[in-house]
Amino acid sequence: MKDLTSIYKDRVIHENLNLKVYKGEILAIVGGSGTGKTTLLKELILLKVPKQGCILFEGKKIDSSNINHMRNKIGVMFQSAALFNSLNVGENIVYVIRKKHKIDYELAREMAIVKIKLAGLGESAYWLYPSELSGGMKKKAALARALATDPKVLFLDEPTSGLDPISADEFDKTIKKLSKILGITVIMITHNVPSFLIADRIAIIANKSIIFCDTPDKITSVDNPWVKELLSTTIGKRFLHGN
Ligand SMILES: Nc1ncnc2c1ncn2[C@@H]1O[C@H](COP(=O)(O)OP(=O)(O)OP(=O)(O)O)[C@@H](O)[C@H]1O
Ligand SMILES: [Mg+2]
Repeated sequence: MKDLTSIYKDRVIHENLNLKVYKGEILAIVGGSGTGKTTLLKELILLKVPKQGCILFEGKKIDSSNINHMRNKIGVMFQSAALFNSLNVGENIVYVIRKKHKIDYELAREMAIVKIKLAGLGESAYWLYPSELSGGMKKKAALARALATDPKVLFLDEPTSGLDPISADEFDKTIKKLSKILGITVIMITHNVPSFLIADRIAIIANKSIIFCDTPDKITSVDNPWVKELLSTTIGKRFLHGN
C-alpha cells in the first residue's frame, strides 16, 4: 500500500498510509476499534477504491488491466463468516470452486473436502448447514471457503473473535500450518493478543496511519496509549513475558 488515503464522505479514515507485506509472511494488523482495519482490508481486496494512493501486488500497481490477476490469487475470510445460509458447508465451497474452475460437480466436491480438512474440520462438516455449526466450526468453514480457490494471499478479518481461548489457539495453529505448508501469505486483522505469537510481523494502525510494523518482540518500543493499555492487560503481560 502506498500513500493510501481513505475517506467515507468527508471523514478521513487513513492518511498517507504505507505498508509492505512480504511473500510468505504472516502479518497481523492490529489497532483500536474503528481505526479503519476493515476499511483497509476492503481496499486491499479491491472492494473499496482509496481516495488517493495505490495498492501494488507483486510489485505492480493494480489497475483495470491486472485487477483480475490479483483477484484470482486472493482468499478472504470476512469479519462475519458470511456463508450462504441456504447451502451446506460443502456446497458453499463447491460454489466458489466452480465459479473459478469449469469442472464437474464431483471433482469440485473432492476438492471441497480437501479444503474442509485443511481448515481443521472433519469431512462430516461437508453436509452441515451454517445454522448447525458451532462458532468455532463456522470460522473453520469460512476458512475452508477462503481456501477454495488456492489463494496465494489469505486475508482474515478477526478470525478468532468470539472463540474460546482453546478454539482460538487451535485456529491460530491451523493458520500457521497452512502458511508453512502451502506457502500462503497471510494478512490477519486481530484483537487477539495470543495471535501475535503466530505473526512474523505486527502492523499497528493508529492516528490514520501505520505507526509500527516490525517483529512482535519490538512492540514494547511503541509509544502509543492504546498499545500500552493493550500490553498492560493480563493477557498482554503474559505475551510480553512469554507465558
Ligand atoms: N460504509 C461506511 N460508511 C461510512 N462510514 C463507515 C463505513 N464503514 C466504516 N465506516 C466508519 O469508518 C471507521 C472505520 O471502520 P472500520 O470498520 O474500518 O473499523 P475497524 O478498525 O475495522 O473496527 P473494528 O475493530 O470494530 O472492526 C468507523 O468509524 C466506521 O464507522
Ligand atoms: Mg473491523
